Amino acid sequence: MLIAPSMLACDFRRIGEEAVRALNAGADWLHLDVMDGSFVDNISFGPDICAAIRQAVPAGAFLDAHLMIDAPEHYYPRFVKAGMDMITIHVEREGAVDLTATLAAIRQAGCKCGLAVNPATPVEKVLPYLEGVDMVLVMSVVPGFGGQSFMGEVLEKVRTLKAERSARGLSFLIQMDGGIGPVQAPECAEAGADCLVAGSSTFRAADMAAAIASMK
Ligand code: DX5
Ligand code: ZN
Repeated sequence: MLIAPSMLACDFRRIGEEAVRALNAGADWLHLDVMDGSFVDNISFGPDICAAIRQAVPAGAFLDAHLMIDAPEHYYPRFVKAGMDMITIHVEREGAVDLTATLAAIRQAGCKCGLAVNPATPVEKVLPYLEGVDMVLVMSVVPGFGGQSFMGEVLEKVRTLKAERSARGLSFLIQMDGGIGPVQAPECAEAGADCLVAGSSTFRAADMAAAIASMK
């Protein structure tokens, strides 16, 4: 299981050191939650902070940017330039954003691309895009804030995605994000998740390395 601590839960006063602390504690990836105050009811940080995190970590660290923003087609190049390895956009922007073109453009720019689905959005919405993604992110909280409670009903989406992946012979990763810690990790794994995002349960754990090891 890949574990991706969310930088949203770190001590922002020393974000670079916090990124290194997570990697030293065994994090596989670092998850960077970008919020624009419109797609979600919060504002976090943008490409300049992502670039600063890139500069703070050793070469080869995998940076996973989760764009909770209205205009990913406009902003994704700035996150490519900031050195992100994965850029995930939201399926809820279908109609307003050409998702197929944006996902393809992210890949064309040399990044992996992901598509996220909110708890209230049916998983069927992402099925037409599976051939064009490296990852599907199943949100297990309503996005916007860390520290919320895990919504177990989304595990059914993970099972559906796993079945579709196998039926179509695809190899995208399935990521889950929100309210996940050592207690929830086993059911996520059982449903078919490959990567767990964890904010509060990692950065705010008494022993971060133990928390990450337990989820792995
Ligand atoms: C929610 C974010 C999550 C969040 C996870 O909008 O996408 O990545 O930071 O935080 P925890 O693990 O505290 O729920
Ligand atoms: Zn996230």
